[in-house]
Amino acid sequence: MADGKEAAVATNKKVVLKRYVTGFATEEDMEVVVDTVRLQVPEGSTAVLLKNLYLSCDPWIRGRMSKHDDGVAVPAPDFAIGEALANFGVGKVIDSTHPGFNAGDLVWGMSGWEEYTLVTQPESLLKINHTDLPLSYYTGVLGLTGLTAYAAFMEVGRPKRGDFVFVSAAAGAVGQVVGQLAKIAGCYVVGSAGADEKVDLLKTKFGYDDAFNYKSETDLAAAIKRCLPDGIDIYIDSVGGATLDAALLNMRQGGRVVAVGMISQYNLEEPYGVRNLYDIIIKAIRIEGLNVNGYFNIYARFEEEMAGYIKDGNVAVVEDVVEGIESAPAALVGLFSGRNVGKQLVALARERREHAGTTLTVTVRRHTQSSQSVADQAIDQLATQEMAGSDEEAAVATNKKVVLKRYVTGFAVEDDMEVVVDTVGLRVPAGSTAVLLKNLYLSCDPWIRGRMSKHDDGAAVPAPDFAIGEALANFGVGKVIDSTHPGVNAGDLVWGMSGWEEYTLVTQPESLIKINHTELPLSYYTGVLGMTGLTAYAGFMEVGRPKRGDFVFVSAAAGAVGQVVGQLSKIAGCYVVGSAGSDEKVDLLKTKFGFDDAFNYKSETDLAAALKRCFPDGIDIYFDNVGGATLDAALLNMRQGGRVVVCGMISQYNLEEPYGVRNLLDIIPKAVRVEGFNVGGYFDIYARFEEEMAGYIKEGKVTVVEDVVEGIESAPAALVGLFSGRNVGKQLVALARE
Ligand SMILES: NC(=O)c1ccc[n+]([C@@H]2O[C@H](COP(=O)([O-])OP(=O)(O)OC[C@H]3O[C@@H](n4cnc5c(N)ncnc54)[C@H](OP(=O)(O)O)[C@@H]3O)[C@@H](O)[C@H]2O)c1
Repeated sequence: MADGKEAAVATNKKVVLKRYVTGFATEEDMEVVVDTVRLQVPEGSTAVLLKNLYLSCDPWIRGRMSKHDDGVAVPAPDFAIGEALANFGVGKVIDSTHPGFNAGDLVWGMSGWEEYTLVTQPESLLKINHTDLPLSYYTGVLGLTGLTAYAAFMEVGRPKRGDFVFVSAAAGAVGQVVGQLAKIAGCYVVGSAGADEKVDLLKTKFGYDDAFNYKSETDLAAAIKRCLPDGIDIYIDSVGGATLDAALLNMRQGGRVVAVGMISQYNLEEPYGVRNLYDIIIKAIRIEGLNVNGYFNIYARFEEEMAGYIKDGNVAVVEDVVEGIESAPAALVGLFSGRNVGKQLVALARERREHAGTTLTVTVRRHTQSSQSVADQAIDQLATQEMAGSDEEAAVATNKKVVLKRYVTGFAVEDDMEVVVDTVGLRVPAGSTAVLLKNLYLSCDPWIRGRMSKHDDGAAVPAPDFAIGEALANFGVGKVIDSTHPGVNAGDLVWGMSGWEEYTLVTQPESLIKINHTELPLSYYTGVLGMTGLTAYAGFMEVGRPKRGDFVFVSAAAGAVGQVVGQLSKIAGCYVVGSAGSDEKVDLLKTKFGFDDAFNYKSETDLAAALKRCFPDGIDIYFDNVGGATLDAALLNMRQGGRVVVCGMISQYNLEEPYGVRNLLDIIPKAVRVEGFNVGGYFDIYARFEEEMAGYIKEGKVTVVEDVVEGIESAPAALVGLFSGRNVGKQLVALARE
């Protein structure tokens, strides 16, 4: 402390950045220089002079050691060459001209990698309340890392008793705390770490139920499956890359991935491409980036709770302490090879009672000319006779079907399917409870492409593979010809899962939904009032949760789902931009569906730049129908707190090797939520949706564009056309009309 009129001057060793880093950081990228410091806050300023006691080594500061001049999102500005690095640390106030701090106060917060730091924004410092616990804990379990673990697990992960939790980098600063919180919350927790010694520590010290050394596993997905055979409810991801890909394959329905960090990526020039994102749709998984800066409002509560756990012996702490500022560069670099065991920190000076050592998201109809065949007329007559109940013996009709000829790899072609002629009894067989439908309209939906391939690798699939030679199946609109089910009568108009054939015997009639708005075109129940409309509504309203003024981006915007999302966006008071694969569709978006702007993604050379042009202030909600490169480009353009509603990934459905999504790291600083959803989980809101949507259509607030082909023979080409964008609007096949 300055004790005379002239302030005392002390030497001040600092760790400075020597050069900007590309690839893995080395000790040589930093150097320790000796400077001097006046031990008094300069007159006329409001600042706090700190003597730094402990510096925290955190992986995130690696990002600040590279030069970013490409406009990418960064959590904090790049360090300047020759200036001291900065991070969270623990210090003692030497001098203060800020009314809230006095000399002698013990604090933690952002400080320099130096012996003394003049903190010019002292409001960012937090007073240490539990001086009865090791002060070093405020670099870890009671500081930023502890708060990160707590916010990630408790606030974002929202654990329930009995949940299966997986934690990567589990022996590290964040990981060790998450594991112990998981046990306190009554969960089953498995950790991965990069050394047998650490695996041991996880099981013996931190109470992990199981753990594995990821460096000695040849198949990470199999290792996770071995430890968590029933899957993962919560994955706290600190490493990203291949571990995230493996975890995605093992997530349970409704699972949550909290992206805390992606340390495996911080030193790579070209990020790992994450390939298993499609799983998040099938299993309705939420991936949420956590930026701890958004949680300082709960710090006080957290500090008390965590201090209590430590004192009660419910949370053990492992620190890896190195001594002296000269040790800091090696300690930081060691994080990326896993040299540290537990929270890595650097002790610069100790308070007396401290101890050294390791303590640890119009109707335009295109008719293909097709008149009703003789067979069709006969079938209709037979059906009519049957309905009149004029025959003792059930009439039999011919039944044309679209069947799968062979399992598909790569792009589906018309020749993968064939139309065969079968016969059908026009009455429900005696003794069964079923409904016989005359199919009126078949819906063409991209998702059924998945059922046309053979899956024998245990991969998650939305529905079983089709059988060779059997009729394809999908949502459709039909009329009940005969029924032995008490809730359904001959003559009823229904929609639901049916076969790609003229007549279908529905053996689970509970899945059929009666059509209420018969004053609207029945075909709408394949689209805007059926599964696709519900998809758009649930995805946008329930998952996207729009606010007035939000900036919304929709891909495959002229399609069945996309056109509805765009119009719902306008109803919700948002600004909406759509992408589509032809100028004709772009025009439709702007003139028919009220999109504020639109672009043809096929004529853009740089999708991220196209989005930047349309959204100079970024995107609040991206409703993703296509995945792949468009998703990657959107991730770069998301705003703070943005939501990616992952509805579909049509660009991926015909690929053998999925596109690797590279920009997931962006979800962490911007706390973006990437949430897959499956319309199957939203049928409980169907009745409300149907009324609301029918209202919008009648009021003219929602316009419908359909692409209708005639006759079952047209179905294979219509389905295949979805993947080249041949369809304009909702693709459907008309078999018979009411
Ligand atoms: N999560 C759920 O529960 C759920 C339910 C229903 C549908 N979905 C998904 O929602 C998405 C839209 O389905 P939809 O029924 O509305 O289909 P759609 O948009 O009417 O038809 C598909 C459109 O996708 C575009 N497309 C095809 N290949 C593409 C590619 N490689 N890259 C970019 N765009 C491509 C084409 O339009 P362009 O001319 O614009 O390229 C095509 O017209 C699909 O991914 C589907 O799987 C999900």
